[in-house]
Amino acid sequence: MRIDVFTLFPEWFDWLRRPRHLTNAAESHDLEIRCFSFRDTTPLSQGQVDDAPFGGGPGMVIRVDVMAAALEAVYGVAAETVRDERRVIVLTPRGRPFDDAITREYAGLDEIVLLCGRYEGFDERIHRELASEELSLGPFVLAGGETAAMAVIDALARRLPGALGNAESLARESFSAEGGGELEHPHFTRPAEFRGWEVPSVLRSGNHAEIERWRAAESRKPRSS
Ligand SMILES: C[S@@+](CC[C@H](N)C(=O)[O-])C[C@H]1O[C@@H](n2cnc3c(N)ncnc32)[C@H](O)[C@@H]1O
Repeated sequence: MRIDVFTLFPEWFDWLRRPRHLTNAAESHDLEIRCFSFRDTTPLSQGQVDDAPFGGGPGMVIRVDVMAAALEAVYGVAAETVRDERRVIVLTPRGRPFDDAITREYAGLDEIVLLCGRYEGFDERIHRELASEELSLGPFVLAGGETAAMAVIDALARRLPGALGNAESLARESFSAEGGGELEHPHFTRPAEFRGWEVPSVLRSGNHAEIERWRAAESRKPRSS
């Protein structure tokens, strides 16, 4: 699988070379992550990538000609056709909310492209004419799309074969089909008692049927403050 990230800060993605599941996925599933700065290919002088919004208002907007040049430099085809061969995903607060089903969907693809905005975001024509879809990390505003892209890459890479040391972790975790889409049950480990905080006795009973019943009941409990 190949993930291409378009960003003004490609060096921030060096972090992705550290977590074990990402290095495992790179080795076992040919996960390749490439990062491109759209400042490197801008057709404008002095590295310009943005401009003031038509109609006025605060902030700067990333230009469509800049993003088209970046896509054309990497893929060698007209920018509007890049999405014909691969999913081009704009990170934006107004996108489809990112969730576990989307990580599974993306993990089944050969190639995705993530476009990371900055400032006021992208010119609308990037959304309409160059992208396949819009994706949001949640109902809040980040300073840029980079952290959203990293979350997407982190979550989908762990679904690739060989990424996790124990593949069973995927089957039994929060939102899994096996767990009925519920949150995972709580975990406890040694010591059995710490400062008076005890591990539920059922977990130390050795009664596997009882343990499964307890875990199923705990999974269904709402988690809140
Ligand atoms: C400061 S934000 C722009 C916010 C935009 N003016 C608005 O009000 O919706 C700059 C960039 O951060 C990224 N971003 C911000 N919040 C995000 C979110 N919740 N999910 C995904 N990307 C986000 C997008 O790429 C966006 O272009």
